[in-house]
Amino acid sequence: MEKIMNEQARKRYFGDFGGRFIPEVLVPAFEELEEAWASVKHDRKFFDELERAQRDFVGRPTPLLLAENLTTSCGGGRIWLKMEALAHTGAHKINNALGQGLLAKKMGKKRLIAETGAGQHGLATAAVAARLGLECEIFMGEVDMARQHPNVYGMRLFGARVTAVTEGSRTLTDAVNAAMKSWTERVSDTHYLIGSALGPYPFPEIVRTFQSVIGKELRSQFRERYAELAGRASRDPSIEMEQGASSGSCILAGVSDAQKSLPDVMVACVGGGSNSIGLFHDFLDDESVRLVGVEAGGHGTAPGEHAVRMTSGQGRPGVVQAYRSIFLQDDNGSLLPTSSVSAGLDYAGIGPELAYYGKNGRIEFTSASDEEVLDAVQVLARTEGILPALESAHALAAAVRLARTLPVGTDIVVNISGRGDKDLFITAPRLDGEDWLDFLKAEVARLEGLL
Ligand SMILES: Cc1ncc(COP(=O)(O)O)c(C=O)c1O
Repeated sequence: MEKIMNEQARKRYFGDFGGRFIPEVLVPAFEELEEAWASVKHDRKFFDELERAQRDFVGRPTPLLLAENLTTSCGGGRIWLKMEALAHTGAHKINNALGQGLLAKKMGKKRLIAETGAGQHGLATAAVAARLGLECEIFMGEVDMARQHPNVYGMRLFGARVTAVTEGSRTLTDAVNAAMKSWTERVSDTHYLIGSALGPYPFPEIVRTFQSVIGKELRSQFRERYAELAGRASRDPSIEMEQGASSGSCILAGVSDAQKSLPDVMVACVGGGSNSIGLFHDFLDDESVRLVGVEAGGHGTAPGEHAVRMTSGQGRPGVVQAYRSIFLQDDNGSLLPTSSVSAGLDYAGIGPELAYYGKNGRIEFTSASDEEVLDAVQVLARTEGILPALESAHALAAAVRLARTLPVGTDIVVNISGRGDKDLFITAPRLDGEDWLDFLKAEVARLEGLL
């Protein structure tokens, strides 16, 4: 019996991280969820239904795009973009929302609740609830509701109730607390559709499973696209010249092996960790592939100025929000405030699986500052005609930095986890201040006339 208990308990952990530290009132809900998850995770019928919905509702597979202009302008490694930004509702969050929505439906739940930071998870959950005929309530920090307002509007259009969280720093960390508390008050007909690969077991495993479609698709897409590139190189008479060139076009440089099946580096931003573990998970055993997670460097290195949990020296192991991981904490174990231009990375903790692979060295961590991120948004917009989410632009900024230091012919895949339309109210005042202010004043005057 003890051995069984130990095995039960052990499967809830990634090394020292993970686990389940929940209040008594949630024990039945977690037991029900664990049982339901165990019954579907190897169920072909469930995954067939999910795959059909991923194709028809989400628009999967999302493309893998070679960023030729960006690569040429960087002059180093070849940069590829995995375009989760093109998934329905504009980000990877829909992969998990759809999977958990179907699971909740199977469990007979009538209502979904969720936390959200950037609003992408709230939007995805609200869309899935509408499609599956479920009631929906989203908890969102007051600060995030203001800065990500286009998504608040979208959630309401999908029929969700958006509840403002006014405690603490009024951002994502507080929204997670509020959603968890709300779940304790109404568990019987409600599923808490957690939005990242974190929280008590089995959430990290559930979210990672639904997000790992990103890496699975990438594996075959990369092989196919690389073979196409090799075909182009074999037909291109200038290839010898290009290979010898130290700058200029790096697109076909070093392409000689039609069989190259793995990228050299993969880069993803890390909030709670769902798009990164979704991209990386299928490649953890491919030791030649460097996996790089990028945290929010914010506007400084002092506590409260960033959300860098893994490399700032301010992240410490602890149990917070019912799971054990690395959290930004002061000497007394109180959570430190965080800051980031991107609401989706503005979180004090990190998913337990990423903490584990970060500590054992399989996943490297770095960060990008708010300023680098705003530059990266503009660079991608101008070179490739793609507007990335501020979250995704962290990965891009780090990838560009890396590409410049790597030999031509190195293949770097960046996860463009979402698109930047939602960030209009953050980017426009910073990048186009006067014009934006004039526009807003004129809009207010026009609306006052209408209302
Ligand atoms: C577009 C986008 N990318 C990344 C994230 C970060 O979340 P995660 O680390 O779970 O992928 C968010 C969170 O809201 C997001 O909206």
